[in-house]
Amino acid sequence: MAELCVGLSERSYPIFIETGGLERIGSDLANRQVGKRYGIVSDDRVANLYGQRVLRALQDAGIHAQLFIFPHGEAHKTLATVGDLASQLARAGFDRKDALIALGGGVTGDITGFLASSYMRGIPFVQVPTTLLAQVDSSVGGKTGVDIPEGKNLVGAFYQPKAVYIDPSVLKSLDYQELLSGIAEVIKYGVIRDASFFEFLEKNRKQVLSLTPAILEGMISACCTIKADVVEQDEREGGLRRILNYGHTIGHAVEAASAFTMRHGFAVAIGMVAAAKLSAKKQLLSPADVQRISSLIASYGLPVAIPENLDREVIKAYLKTDKKVMAGKVFYILPKAIGSTIITDDISNIQLDEVLLPD
Ligand code: GLY
Repeated sequence: MAELCVGLSERSYPIFIETGGLERIGSDLANRQVGKRYGIVSDDRVANLYGQRVLRALQDAGIHAQLFIFPHGEAHKTLATVGDLASQLARAGFDRKDALIALGGGVTGDITGFLASSYMRGIPFVQVPTTLLAQVDSSVGGKTGVDIPEGKNLVGAFYQPKAVYIDPSVLKSLDYQELLSGIAEVIKYGVIRDASFFEFLEKNRKQVLSLTPAILEGMISACCTIKADVVEQDEREGGLRRILNYGHTIGHAVEAASAFTMRHGFAVAIGMVAAAKLSAKKQLLSPADVQRISSLIASYGLPVAIPENLDREVIKAYLKTDKKVMAGKVFYILPKAIGSTIITDDISNIQLDEVLLPD
């Protein structure tokens, strides 16, 4: 078991990483007293798998809890779902002394965090992430929100959880493609911040993909340590936190150009290789390191090239409308070496075309 801390003064919170830890949530919350009673928010799929287990763990610890379920999928990450859940909480008599538990993947964490930030002007919540992507990224750092027709995550709040409980054993029930999608975010941490973690991922591919408990705990712990460190220095993404978007600038444009048929992590994998190639074009990164990044990503079964059927002009148009564009400038996170990055908008159209065109 690993225990980390996100140090944000009065908003600091622990992250527990423990195989089988799902059963311990009740006793820990009984000590921590985040809320008087708990609304466990989950989508229909995750509720079927783990809803009763978490409910029982709380009830066994003498805590009153209730499940609140919404339909699975990004299509339901909306204000309407938040409104519906708020109505259910109100009808069940939840008040400011109560708290929420986000049990699920990134969509559930985003919805529940946003609901917690606004229900009765703010009630506490904890994260219990059940996908790899949520365990290594979205459950830590306090980004919450929903999509509107005009774009993803356009309505939301920075709202930190009171604790994050990560049980790597739940990844056994995760669809393999979803696992790979999360691996892209894992690799991201190695490239942006930690060369020895990158090497760990090179050496332990088989153990990672076969979900070896000790390896998974170590891997998730390394990712959360980096995420916590970055968030502690720049909670509201004024500067440093943007390095967590490595691979996401071109990745988001590719994902959008695929009409969101491509999984997020797969698009990020493609975006990370494209950003590494851009960096080499600017003489910042050696061709050997580009190759190493691309080989690691490919070795995990993730894509490294933009599919030929995606229109490059459409990708370029999406790059310009990305919500991270500032004052008309598109920013790229470029690796300078494995474990170190810079943020720049100094990319010429020619350099971009060279990277976007099929090899
Ligand atoms: N997923 C990027 C961030 O939390 O800033």
